[in-house]
Amino acid sequence: MNERDTRNLLSELAASLFVRGFSVGSAGNISVRLPDGYLMTPTNSSLGRLDPDRLSKLDADFRHVGGDKPSKEVFMHRAFYQARSDAGAVVHLHSTQATAVACLPEVDHTNPIPPLTPYFVMRVGRRMPIIPYYRPGDPAMEPAINAAARDARAVLLANHGPVVSGKTLTDAVYAAEELEEAAKLFLMLRGQSPRLLSTEQVDDLLATFG
Ligand code: 13P
Repeated sequence: MNERDTRNLLSELAASLFVRGFSVGSAGNISVRLPDGYLMTPTNSSLGRLDPDRLSKLDADFRHVGGDKPSKEVFMHRAFYQARSDAGAVVHLHSTQATAVACLPEVDHTNPIPPLTPYFVMRVGRRMPIIPYYRPGDPAMEPAINAAARDARAVLLANHGPVVSGKTLTDAVYAAEELEEAAKLFLMLRGQSPRLLSTEQVDDLLATFG
């Protein structure tokens, strides 16, 4: 896909997330890897109204080289790209249910959402830890995310929201959507004893779908 098509797709997917309530106000940011760097949503922009021509362009070293000023969460995105060679895009949202899980002190912070559904496992993987709270835009979050992302395609930032990577922009957005639905199921089923996918079923999904 050329850069023009990537700019259009990013703006289209962002608007789709916004109209369905996955992001509100100017919350959330999205980036995608290009052959010569990255595209990123500008800081304080609404995912609902991005201008493809004004997306921030970063070079391969994450320096701002074009478009509007990038998201203050460049460090959050960089942590994923540097930890995971398979990351082609990163989506950060404040989606309500995933953020709710990230506010619960007593859940298992190494992996709060169990394997409830196949698509959660297929899109997000076996493990998604909660990272301690950092102020939005704080570069200090980068090492914590980088360490966790080596072993996880997605993390939850405590009291803040999910950060999800994918091979492509579409994969990362789909994974962020599946994560939000899994968080909703997890919250709905708290206090009950839902049947979980077995280790064999999780292994089979990951072997079959990656
Ligand atoms: P930006 O507007 O700088 O992208 O920040 C939004 C956000 O979601 C902070 O976590």
